[in-house]
Amino acid sequence: MHLSVIGCGYLGAVHAAAMASIGHHVVGIDVDEAKIAQLSAGHAPFFEPGLQELLEAGLQSGRLAFSSDMSAAQHAQVHFIGVGTPQQRGSYAADLTFVDAAVESLLPYLEAGDIVAGKSTVPVGTAERLAPSITATGATLVWNPEFLREGFAVVDTISPDRLVVGVPAGDDGEKAVEVLRDVYHTAIASDTPLIVTDYATSELVKVSANAFLATKISFINAMAEIAEVTGADVTQLADAIGHDARIGRRFLGAGIGFGGGCLPKDIRAFSARAEELGRGESVNFLREVDAINLRRRERAVQLVVESVGGSVFDKRVAVLGAAFKPHSDDIRDSPALDVAVRLHGLGADVVVTDPEALENARRAHPQLSFEPDLVRTITGADVLLVVTEWDEYRRELDPDDAASWAKERIVVDGRNCLDATRWRAAGWQYFGMGRP
Ligand code: UGA
Repeated sequence: MHLSVIGCGYLGAVHAAAMASIGHHVVGIDVDEAKIAQLSAGHAPFFEPGLQELLEAGLQSGRLAFSSDMSAAQHAQVHFIGVGTPQQRGSYAADLTFVDAAVESLLPYLEAGDIVAGKSTVPVGTAERLAPSITATGATLVWNPEFLREGFAVVDTISPDRLVVGVPAGDDGEKAVEVLRDVYHTAIASDTPLIVTDYATSELVKVSANAFLATKISFINAMAEIAEVTGADVTQLADAIGHDARIGRRFLGAGIGFGGGCLPKDIRAFSARAEELGRGESVNFLREVDAINLRRRERAVQLVVESVGGSVFDKRVAVLGAAFKPHSDDIRDSPALDVAVRLHGLGADVVVTDPEALENARRAHPQLSFEPDLVRTITGADVLLVVTEWDEYRRELDPDDAASWAKERIVVDGRNCLDATRWRAAGWQYFGMGRP
């Protein structure tokens, strides 16, 4: 099939390359010419495991191309909209400027029978609002939310755990579902469930899934706060409650909390939309979820300060991690960098390292010092602070080696990802989040 993907960021670039890898002819379109030049030359514009290989193979096969010209979308049968929906300045609501602009500029190239498939995360009601202008061209709008996780985006796109398609009532909706079955033929063949809904449900599936995940993380972080005043250990607590299959251990990782380009802005946009709908009270708890999450960053700062005797002024803090999570170079709303910036503000001599995110971090926070080499980062440190659980720190960093480089043996584990017993055995004072 011939597909266009509008927006070539973390979602769109992966979607385009993944669709080409399963046999479709795909053109990725973005207004950012530098990004298009990079993609066209076979370079992934961000770090995502497996993407580079997929891009190269797609370009070589002749089935994948990129363009900054919207007319390249003409004659594609399905047009995916994968542009960003960031938080608006000065408000919790989502900024739909990019979605609206993408649809507006696509309209002249739509043909009767085309499908426009929205993938961006949008406030409920957006598809209903966009549908009339698309329907007027003879095309059909569906909403097909994306559930990929950064770091696993390629596998999540090719083999998702579910497909959701919100369609209009009637024949057009039914036909569109058949077309999407063809698009996702490989996933459907391996029994991936395809759930067909109306527009509103499909939009809500996406935001409620992220709201649930954020709530789960903040729940365990709230337990960490209680653990801190009772001497309990939140990681043991999570293990124990996680054995209950109804609860499950995943996303019960207490630490400095969630960040990234999705969970924080999605729960805020959800609150804002619920307020608009007169149902703010239904999701009032999301404000608590957000507040608990942000408190954990401050708690990490406090732990570092306490660990060095009450003031970080002039203390060298080696910050291990900048990305909002491992396997990603994404620093959007990264709790790791937020903690680093706060410590810098308290007068600490902060040095940040990260296997992939240093360039992005440097651009966003030029006031911090960055060091690609882990040994040099740790050398002379008064305190080690682990804030992104890369394997390089979690598994591969030997506490005895680290002890020979650092000035003091003090480690603050902002992700509860180190083996505390091993670090203590090597003479380190170990401080976890919600752990004695
Ligand atoms: C999230 C969702 O997991 C995806 O399903 C969704 O498609 C995506 O948002 C999106 O809306 O596009 P992502 O932002 O890539 O994916 O990252 P997650 O793996 O969800 O992690 C989010 C944050 O939560 C990270 O900062 C991570 O460190 C933190 N986290 C995760 C915890 O603090 N504890 C945990 O136990 C798990």
